[in-house]
Amino acid sequence: MTTRDTSAPGKPVIGVFDSGFGGLTVLRALLPLIPGAHYIYLGDTARLPYGSKSRETITRYALSSARFLADQGAELLVIACNTATALALDDLKANLSIPVIGVIEPGAQAAKAQAEADVLVLATAATTQSRAYTQALTELGLKATEKACPLLVPLVEEGWIDHRVNAAVTLEVLRIYLLEALADAPRASTLLLGCTHYPLLKPLIETTLRNLHHPMRVIDSAEATAQAVAAHLTTTASTAAPTCEFYATDSIEKFQRLGSNFLGHPLGEVRLIDLGG
Ligand code: DGL
Repeated sequence: MTTRDTSAPGKPVIGVFDSGFGGLTVLRALLPLIPGAHYIYLGDTARLPYGSKSRETITRYALSSARFLADQGAELLVIACNTATALALDDLKANLSIPVIGVIEPGAQAAKAQAEADVLVLATAATTQSRAYTQALTELGLKATEKACPLLVPLVEEGWIDHRVNAAVTLEVLRIYLLEALADAPRASTLLLGCTHYPLLKPLIETTLRNLHHPMRVIDSAEATAQAVAAHLTTTASTAAPTCEFYATDSIEKFQRLGSNFLGHPLGEVRLIDLGG
């Protein structure tokens, strides 16, 4: 799954990027849905987290990541990062000559399919400040409450997510965030994971919600984003097995080790690239 398959010339080449591992949850949804594609994944781990940075910096990082994937031959770009989608989608669309699909619109649609009215969105600080989810959900007739959870991405990136081993700190952090969020959104019955790192926390989030006696439907945008990509492809995907190549801007060893948690199987070779500061 690591080398480009030149035996299928019609194979669509799909570029996928995130600031780190989180976007692998989107790639995981894409692989079974569009198996006849070649995927180029970039984790911009050297510049992670995006979620605590300004719009200008996030846009600059997102543009260089996207241009790298376009230069590698991507014919379609998936921004598998809520923060980059919220802050840079319009700039990426304006500056790239390939179609660009983000995660927020599909995530809002997924919430619409499940939610009755009030949706609680957990996301990075930059995403919540942009109000992108509030806008997307309001347009669909839903009420949104956004909660910034800046400690969650580092905890996920460190792999502190295993219930039996090292999740105590993460559970306590989730308890505090969810208590604060539910005080602002007491009637919310759907929780939208507005960061592609958060699906890895889903079991811990569900445990915390049970402990707080506030069970909610927990949904993420990965599946809905994969559907949006499939709908966009004009070529009929072949039934060939997918091929993938992986790039990261920092520690290859860590990317291989932790990335498999997100993808659900080993990544194989990961290449180190330098996108500058
Ligand atoms: N995975 C990114 C997102 O979906 C956030 C990670 C970061 O802060 O860099 O928002």
